[in-house]
Amino acid sequence: MQFQGKVVVVTGAAVGIGHAALRAFAAEGAAVVLVDRDKKQSEAVAQALETEGREVLFVPTDVSHEAEVRSMVDHVADRWGRLDILVNNAGVYLQGDATQTSLEDWERILAINLTGAFLCTKYAVPVMANHGGGVIVNVASEAGLVGIKGQVAYNVSKAGMIALTRSCAVDLAEKGIRVNCVCPGTTDTPLVRAAVSRDPDPAAARRRLEAIRPLNRLGIPEEIASAIVFLAGSDVGYATGAVLSVDGGYTAQ
Ligand SMILES: NC(=O)c1ccc[n+]([C@@H]2O[C@H](COP(=O)([O-])OP(=O)(O)OC[C@H]3O[C@@H](n4cnc5c(N)ncnc54)[C@H](O)[C@@H]3O)[C@@H](O)[C@H]2O)c1
Repeated sequence: MQFQGKVVVVTGAAVGIGHAALRAFAAEGAAVVLVDRDKKQSEAVAQALETEGREVLFVPTDVSHEAEVRSMVDHVADRWGRLDILVNNAGVYLQGDATQTSLEDWERILAINLTGAFLCTKYAVPVMANHGGGVIVNVASEAGLVGIKGQVAYNVSKAGMIALTRSCAVDLAEKGIRVNCVCPGTTDTPLVRAAVSRDPDPAAARRRLEAIRPLNRLGIPEEIASAIVFLAGSDVGYATGAVLSVDGGYTAQ
């Protein structure tokens, strides 16, 4: 129960990696805050966790809207007076090279994947600092480390997330706040299932995604959640600005 007494905010926690991380922190004793824009799925998750005896709060939020993020953090501060760990996980995916990507889509992907993390950080930091510090874990991607073909806006948003991690690690150390980053490889979540299902041959598309990495399989959300929990924990209290790949060996090639 390494997070007993701690308050943990996870964005994009209704499904997929965020959901697995939310559950992992709750299992370690944390009070967890589910931040997501999908009301129906989030309410179901919050109810399930409550039934299991966990302390959980769902705050409907679009992380790309400043007023909603500010109000979400206020809500957390009003309820507990503290915020110990923030996981910036909410994200969306888009295919297309520069010629195929509209300006509107480019701005939407950056607004959610990168500006959303900036806004949550901006408003969470004063609450964290008030209580002596905290930890931020950003969920970037293998796509932030290398240029994956045909997904320019997504790649750039994730490279930005790595830069945000390093900048904030340097800026916030004096406030007792560590900032680290996980770079997942393709992981079996609704995001990936939706992308695969758009292919004319979904089974072949999935096999292709598996075969391009040394471990020859997709990740599972719990494996990424374990890395998030690890970077948030005090066992690695010396880690800040760290970028941890959990990608089946994709970027080692
Ligand atoms: N699945 C992968 O292969 C993979 C690989 C590398 C990185 N990632 C990153 O991990 C994170 C989680 O991915 P996932 O696969 O679990 O995605 P997912 O689509 O399965 O779940 C994302 C969650 O974020 C929420 N969300 C989306 N936009 C939001 C917004 N504006 N405000 C609040 N909530 C919002 C969705 O409602 C959903 O619950 C994303 O940042 C993604 O880019 C995923």
